[in-house]
Amino acid sequence: MKQKLKILVVFAILIFAVLIFSQSRQQAQTQIETAGQKFKNIKVLNEMPADQMGKVMNLMAASLGVNCSFCHIGNNFEKDGNEHKDIAREMLKMTFALNKTYFEGRPEVSCATCHNGLAHPQSAPNLNLTKAEMRPKQPTTKPTIDQILDKYALALGGKTNLEKITSRYIKANRVEPDGTTEPEEVWQKSNKILIATKYGDYLVTEAFDGTTAWKRGNADEIKLKPDEEEQIRREAGLFASANLTAIYPKMEFGIVDKIDGREVYQIRATTAGNLRERLYFDVNSGLLVRRIASTPTILGNFPYQVDYHDYKNFGGVKLPTTVRFALPNIVWTRKILEVKINTLVDDAKFKPTKEN
Ligand code: HEC
Ligand code: HEC
Repeated sequence: MKQKLKILVVFAILIFAVLIFSQSRQQAQTQIETAGQKFKNIKVLNEMPADQMGKVMNLMAASLGVNCSFCHIGNNFEKDGNEHKDIAREMLKMTFALNKTYFEGRPEVSCATCHNGLAHPQSAPNLNLTKAEMRPKQPTTKPTIDQILDKYALALGGKTNLEKITSRYIKANRVEPDGTTEPEEVWQKSNKILIATKYGDYLVTEAFDGTTAWKRGNADEIKLKPDEEEQIRREAGLFASANLTAIYPKMEFGIVDKIDGREVYQIRATTAGNLRERLYFDVNSGLLVRRIASTPTILGNFPYQVDYHDYKNFGGVKLPTTVRFALPNIVWTRKILEVKINTLVDDAKFKPTKEN
C-alpha cells in the first residue's frame, strides 16, 4: 500500500514537472521571437531576438561606414548574391567566436573594434594623430560631482531663475543631413514633453505625459521599443530642471576628455532603472555638451548620442538652440527658432487624445 502511494506521488510530481516545463517553454517561445523565425534567409543570427535586427544592421553599416546597399541588393534584404553579405556572415561568426573564446561570451569585440568606420580596417597604427586629438592631461585632484553640477546650474542661469520656469513652447526646425527641414513644435511642462514634427501632411507626435511615453503618426499609434520610450522620458526630464540627480541617482567622475577641441568632464551616470549613460560637461563654461545612452545588442552597445550646442538665454535660463541627435546610420538636428516661457499649457496636451 505504502509502496503504491509512493509511486503515485512520484508519478504526480513527474507529470507536474513536465507540465511546468512545457508551459515555460511555450512562454519563452511566445515571449521572444527570434530573427530565425521572423526573417526569411537567416543563417547566422538565428537565435538573436528579432527586434534587434534593425539595430544590428545599422550598427554593422555604421561600423564600416557604408550603406545597406554595400551588402544588400536593393531592398531585397533576404536575397543572397552580394559577396559582401557572404563576408559579413563570416565576420559575424568570427566576432561571436572571439567573444566566446576570449571574453566569456560578453560582446566586447564588435565590428567597430576593427573597422572603426572603414570597410577595410587599418592594420598599422595611425601616425597622423596630432596633439590636439590626443586625450588631455588628467587633473591631479578629480572634481566632485557636486562641483560639476553646481557649476552647471549656475551656467544655465542659477537655481532661482531655473525655478521660475514652469513651462516652455519651442518652435524649431528638424534639419536632415541633406539640408531639408521639417517644422517642429515642442511643449514642455515640468517633466512632461510633446514633440510634433510635420513631414508634409504626415504629423509625427512623440510625448511623455508624466507616466507614459507614446508616439503617433497622424492618428495611428507607433509602437515604441523600451529604449525609445526611455529616451523620450529622458528628454522630458533633462531640461525641466538642473537637478540631474533626480534622473541619475548614481554619478561618478570618469575622465577629462575632448570634444571639438574643448576639454570636457566625462561623467558616468546611472538612472533609477539601472541604465547607464555618459554625460559630458564643458570644463570652462560648465554646460552639458553631450549625452550618450546605449542599448545592449548581440553586437555590443547600440549608442544614442545627443549633442547640445549654441546655448542661448530665454527668460534668464539658457537652452541649447542646436541639438544634434545621432544613432548608428541616423542623424538629425533640431534648430530652435523661438522660445516662449511660462505660457499656459494644459496637462491634457501631453495625453494621447484625439486633439494632440
Ligand atoms: C556589412 C554587411 C551588411 C550591411 C551593411 C547591412 N546588412 Fe542586412 N544583412 C547582412 C547579413 C549578412 C544578413 C543575413 C544574416 C544571417 O544570415 O544571419 C542580413 C540580413 C538582413 C535582413 C533580414 C532579411 C531576411 O528576411 O532574411 C534585413 C531586413 C536586413 N539585413 C536589413 C538591412 C538594412 C535595413 C541595412 C541598412 C541599415 C542593412 N541590412 C545593412 C549584412 C548586412
Ligand atoms: C578582429 C577584427 C575584425 C572584426 C571584429 C570584424 N572585421 Fe570585418 N574585416 C576585418 C579585416 C582585417 C578585413 C579585411 C580587410 C581587407 O581586405 O582590406 C575585413 C573585411 C570585412 C569585409 C569585406 C570588405 C570589402 O570591402 O571587401 C566586410 C563586409 C566586413 N569585414 C564586415 C564585418 C562585419 C559586419 C563585422 C562585425 C560583425 C566585422 N567585419 C568584424 C577585420 C575585422
